Amino acid sequence: MEQDAKIYQDLSKVLVSSEEIHQAVKALGKKITADYQGKEPMLVGILKGAVVFYADLIREIDLPLKTDFMVVSSYGRSTETTGVVKIIKDLSCSLNGVDVLIVEDIVDSGITLNYLKNMLQDRGAASIKIATLLDKPARRRVNLKADYSCFEIPDEFVVGYGLDYDEKYRNLPLIGVLSPKIYGGED
Ligand code: IMP
Ligand code: MG
Repeated sequence: MEQDAKIYQDLSKVLVSSEEIHQAVKALGKKITADYQGKEPMLVGILKGAVVFYADLIREIDLPLKTDFMVVSSYGRSTETTGVVKIIKDLSCSLNGVDVLIVEDIVDSGITLNYLKNMLQDRGAASIKIATLLDKPARRRVNLKADYSCFEIPDEFVVGYGLDYDEKYRNLPLIGVLSPKIYGGED
């Protein structure tokens, strides 16, 4: 996409360029390849936010991996503290004895991933690790640490490279901060 594309006008700044993302995803693929030598991990992508990161990441991993996806939705903000996550689409494969690597776009409060990790553990996975593109540690509300994280970012609402605001901006090739004129800045 050209730098003067209309979609960029809604950003107040670029936080991570597409080149920086490309380099980080490449390095992460190498690390995962080394860490899972001799294994056949299953990469579980959390739709829809992780889809762009997921597609790029699996092509940087030199292993006979398996793929599967989940769609989850966190309950509204008022009930967030309960940590209940609704499963909209579950996995289609069994996890018994499987090395699972959850691929997520961003760890924010950590509530979604904490819930998912516990749930998948109960299904008999051999191991469960988390790979996230972005990490907002300042927002954490549960004790959860991603095993692999590409970028630590400040507490700002970001879009692009899969992340949305109101289902838009997922197709931006970079990570940007949404302009306050678009995002009311509530929260
Ligand atoms: P949490 O870690 O359970 O709070 O939720 C993480 C989810 O919230 C992510 O998978 C995103 O869908 C969404 N999210 C959190 N922060 C942002 C952001 O800055 N931009 C877009 N989506 C976000
Ligand atoms: Mg998400």
